[in-house]
Amino acid sequence: MQRLTNKRIVLGVTGGIAAYKSAELIRRLIDAGAEVRVVMTKAAQEFITPLTLQALSGNPVHLALLDTEAEAGMGHIELARWGDALLIAPASADFIARLTHGHGNDLLTTLCLAARCPIHIAPAMNQGMWASTANQNNIQQLETNGIHLIGPSSGYQACGDIGLGRMSEPNDIAQILADSFLTGSLTGIRVVITAGPTREAIDPVRYISNHSSGKMGFALAEAARDAGANVTLIAGPVNLATPGRVNRINVISAKDMLAATTELLDTLSLSKNPVIFIGTAAVADYRPDTSATQKIKKTQGNPNLTLQLIENPDIIAAVAQRIPKPFTVGFAAETQNVLDYANDKISRKNLDMIVANDVSNKDIGFNSDLNAVTIIWPEGNKTIDIASKPIIASAIIQQISLQL
Ligand code: C5P
Repeated sequence: MQRLTNKRIVLGVTGGIAAYKSAELIRRLIDAGAEVRVVMTKAAQEFITPLTLQALSGNPVHLALLDTEAEAGMGHIELARWGDALLIAPASADFIARLTHGHGNDLLTTLCLAARCPIHIAPAMNQGMWASTANQNNIQQLETNGIHLIGPSSGYQACGDIGLGRMSEPNDIAQILADSFLTGSLTGIRVVITAGPTREAIDPVRYISNHSSGKMGFALAEAARDAGANVTLIAGPVNLATPGRVNRINVISAKDMLAATTELLDTLSLSKNPVIFIGTAAVADYRPDTSATQKIKKTQGNPNLTLQLIENPDIIAAVAQRIPKPFTVGFAAETQNVLDYANDKISRKNLDMIVANDVSNKDIGFNSDLNAVTIIWPEGNKTIDIASKPIIASAIIQQISLQL
């Protein structure tokens, strides 16, 4: 089964006899790796207790829109933002009608209005109610609105009827939901990403650095996390928030970055899980030979100051020499002969893949929100035209998962 690793699911439970199956559904979602928060309508609480669903989900159950205590913990808008998907199972005929018409008269309908993530509903009702014109019109409208329908299935119903309207089995619902993400490709894999610039101290107040924003590395961290990986960012000094569910180690200089990378990869090599290393950092190639312990003073009558620079360690080349070798992906930011330099780098640094971009184009690359890249691996290459960094990042992660 496609996994739900790192996925946050808001499970809405509405009033119907199939609400008892929500307990098993929570188990299946958690087994698949998801974190689950449950929202119950008033009617749902007539069929199953909040306490049961709280114990199974391991999180407080959200019951009412105007509950000050719950709002103080995680408000309804925050909850809508928290979810990677909203799943309503069972979805009663009444709830479906309210959802169709955009009601916001309880917590669950309000969440559906506020949510920007995909919404899935697993209807459960008597076969006559399911087939009714009013319900069928509602279902058609919801599908037009982009809401995903899971089931219902056919069979014996609690009322004694036989027909279409039973809620789909919890296992099937969990599987359909997992498949909808289409991104379990890096489940169980550890991903280490270096990002941003490094700063090489000249004296206590001055340094040599570059314009790298770290945006590409951070976008890759999110894409790898969404693909199910356990991700660590080793970040130089950047002004970016850490993506949710991503580990972060802050470093300053190239030497710090190498030390943090080596320490982390040493730890990861103790487990058998595969490791991917992605070097997006714009590591300073050289650093001042010595960093003055006191601020360097301007000396009168001496218009020149000479800095002696020495080469920094090549972090990615060191990673590619490790045994076992992580799947190693480099970046080549060039201003000319981009593909030639990239191909040279892939063999010189013993890389498994390189992502080449042309930083001479002012609209893309360093500091920009856009990029355009060519992904090169020993047997082929693929060009991704100008797009946002998150879109480029997903394409790179997808290509890595195909090459593993
Ligand atoms: O040789 P160049 O700096 O162009 O190579 C770029 C690639 O090598 C990037 O993936 C970058 O993160 C990595 N690199 C590194 N350590 C260095 C220099 C570059 O990891 N000292």
